[in-house]
Amino acid sequence: MRAVDIIRAKRDGEVLSSEAIGAFIAGVLDGSWADYQTSALLMAIVLRGMTPGETAALTDAMLRTGRRVDLSGLAGVKVGKHSTGGVGDKVSVVLAPLVAACGVIMPKMSGRGLGHTGGTLDKLESIPGFRIGLSVDEFLAVLGSVGCALIGQTADIAPADKVLYGLRDVTATIESVPLISASIMSKKLAEGSSALVLDVKCGRGAFMKTLPEALTLARSLAAIGQAHGVPTEAVVTSMDAPLGRAVGNAVEIRECVETLAGQGPPDLLEVVEAVGVRVLRLAGRAADDAAALAQLRAAITSGAGRRKLRDMVAAQGGDVAVIDDPSRLPSAPFVRTLEAGDDGVVSAIDAELVGRAAVLLGAGRERKGDPVDHAAGIILRTRVGDTVRRGQPLLDLHGADETKMAAAREVATRAVRLGGEATVAPLVRAFVSPAGDVREP
Ligand code: URA
Repeated sequence: MRAVDIIRAKRDGEVLSSEAIGAFIAGVLDGSWADYQTSALLMAIVLRGMTPGETAALTDAMLRTGRRVDLSGLAGVKVGKHSTGGVGDKVSVVLAPLVAACGVIMPKMSGRGLGHTGGTLDKLESIPGFRIGLSVDEFLAVLGSVGCALIGQTADIAPADKVLYGLRDVTATIESVPLISASIMSKKLAEGSSALVLDVKCGRGAFMKTLPEALTLARSLAAIGQAHGVPTEAVVTSMDAPLGRAVGNAVEIRECVETLAGQGPPDLLEVVEAVGVRVLRLAGRAADDAAALAQLRAAITSGAGRRKLRDMVAAQGGDVAVIDDPSRLPSAPFVRTLEAGDDGVVSAIDAELVGRAAVLLGAGRERKGDPVDHAAGIILRTRVGDTVRRGQPLLDLHGADETKMAAAREVATRAVRLGGEATVAPLVRAFVSPAGDVREP
């Protein structure tokens, strides 16, 4: 099957056969499809969509390109977690140690930044020495001793996704239900978890801008999990404004440590708890939601969650001194404060623009393979709904050079809107069951 015929078929809105989808993924992996052909098909999929059958075939083809981790040697239910991507989304770094402290094993292969959204791996690598590139045997050993491990996709896990993910990041082909579904589920099914909880982000800073789009994605993800016998739930959460106060890499790790010490921002804690309750329920560790919530809160107040993070960092080669004292994390040479130009109410903090400003500072990538600046980032000094006075600090930009700071400042200035109606959507928008049923919080 020629690449050009497959691209043309999707361009013209045809349904691709499993053979055509298999040929595409094989071509991506063996290099017989050039990047421009792969990118052309990705764009055709973004514009024309895929049926649930095509999405399932794409997921299977991507899953089959690699191995599946066998977690059966570890006792207990293993629950995976993934986010569809957001700004300031550091939930995994808080959640994995927290649920591990509650007795649930959380194996987690994370990603790098994608578009304007941050990546857990980039954040973790701001911890000096932290190794995200563990072998599967090392991954199993850390899971056995600590109960959670956060690593990058090993070379043999869904390798086709690695190639597609890198291309999608730089060709504006991320926002697509079938592509996101196949990308996430090929990795999550390979990870070997017995159940999954997915945080589907919705709003200005998310790939799915509206609740109906987010629900479509959530149902698509749940259906793929169900078809593979892995119960998959979704929590749809709002991503209009960044989550928490910190956006970047080291600045976000610092916020994670503070959250596990009971001093985290309320919005971050709310999402951690909503997802954590589903994890504990799916793992059968709590009889009802209230009991699950009580366990999660106790793991923060007792310090057990923070100790788990420390154990995981130590087991993955990281410097635990930065967990004990986060001021030792990398810090930027320049900090510039953006101040309010007027009196007024903060009516919006646009997560996508804040994410883009963070990328301009160096916290994310402009091109595939670019290095990231672990110290770069943004600290929000105000929240939606706050009344501010002219000259009051809105946010701090942390960066390595003044040119980057100037570009980021221009974008960040547009991100914070003063005046007008300050509407704050509820953070937790919906729960989607493995069968695809939607429940309001
Ligand atoms: N996260 C992924 O792993 N893949 C996507 O396509 C989007 C978010």
